[in-house]
Amino acid sequence: MPKRSVTEANVSGKRVLCRCDFNVPIEHGRITDDTRIRAALPTIRWLLGRGARVVLCSHLGRPKGTERDDLRLAPVAERLSELLDQSVTSCRRVTGDDVRTAVDELRDGEALLLENLRFEKGEEDNDGELARRLAALADVYVNDAFGAAHRAHASTEGVAHLLPAYMGLLMEREVEVLGRLVESPERPFVAIVGGAKVSDKIAVLDRLIERVDALLVGGGMANTFLLARGREMGTSLVEAEHVDESRRITAKAEACGVEVFLPNDAIVSTSLERKGVAKAVDTLDPNEAIFDIGTETAKSFAGAIERAHTVFWNGPMGVAERPAFAGGTRAVAEAVAACDGFTVVGGGDSVAAVQQLGLADRIDHISTGGGASLEFIEGKELPGISVIPDVEASQP
Ligand code: 3PG
Repeated sequence: MPKRSVTEANVSGKRVLCRCDFNVPIEHGRITDDTRIRAALPTIRWLLGRGARVVLCSHLGRPKGTERDDLRLAPVAERLSELLDQSVTSCRRVTGDDVRTAVDELRDGEALLLENLRFEKGEEDNDGELARRLAALADVYVNDAFGAAHRAHASTEGVAHLLPAYMGLLMEREVEVLGRLVESPERPFVAIVGGAKVSDKIAVLDRLIERVDALLVGGGMANTFLLARGREMGTSLVEAEHVDESRRITAKAEACGVEVFLPNDAIVSTSLERKGVAKAVDTLDPNEAIFDIGTETAKSFAGAIERAHTVFWNGPMGVAERPAFAGGTRAVAEAVAACDGFTVVGGGDSVAAVQQLGLADRIDHISTGGGASLEFIEGKELPGISVIPDVEASQP
């Protein structure tokens, strides 16, 4: 059932609490990737354009209920002011008298940004009292924080029970695109899954296998699959306790007629600090570890991606933050960008790769959700979405 959309809300002259996911990387006060801020702009502009008084809020990092100067949201307010070409006031508190005054002083079409919600312990506890304080700042609630939709926190779940609640435009787009992957992907559907650990991805692999035609596995997690096939993995990162799960997933894939691609060759080294050499995965010395997929593997992955009509990619193919071991991730990013089918990339490191390579414009959808997009694809209920009333339920 579709959820109530911000486009149905009467926001003119109203105070709108808009939950965004501005959890962006900030180094020495400088935002190094503003993708999530840009992604929230359509909803913010929609609200401002209709004369709403917009009270923006977000978490940043994991300060666990304490105030930390390095996790203040002031740099985000500055960036928003530049992007919106109008001033967005930054508050030094989440709620309280000063915040109340600042909200009261907002005029139609103006916005402010509350301080990092996670400075309040009650945020992650989904504390009713904090939810009430947030609700008291607004007449309407809009949740556009897809990246935090898997969290049942005061600002993503609690407050939605206390105000008329709607989904923002970004949230709607994420639900539509990821829903399409799960429900009606155009075939062949190819998923590329990487990252360090298979244990983080078991649930999503299980679900993807029921949907895809081919599964391409890279990154550290592929090592555990290779170990399960009896390969000697040297000092590579492996999760021996998940070998049985990897076997089960491979068997399930076979039973579902899904082709599983694992690395045949790799870039290996005795240390991350040293140069890598290309080797077949069954010729590792005992003191060597796999740090990236090899060029033959990258080519075969690229071939499968080229033939796909739908592609979902989550997780790097190697230790992509090290240039010596970034080649596999780069090759996959280029193949996804070149694919004529419908392409979706999710997860911090894979998104960072397409951004850094300047390929983002050639991807159909870059999900702002890391954990949230995986949980969505796993078929889990996301509290930040399920709490928004269905369209039908909201009809008179
Ligand atoms: C993310 O970065 O995936 C979201 O902002 C959620 O952050 P969290 O994992 O700290 O809840």
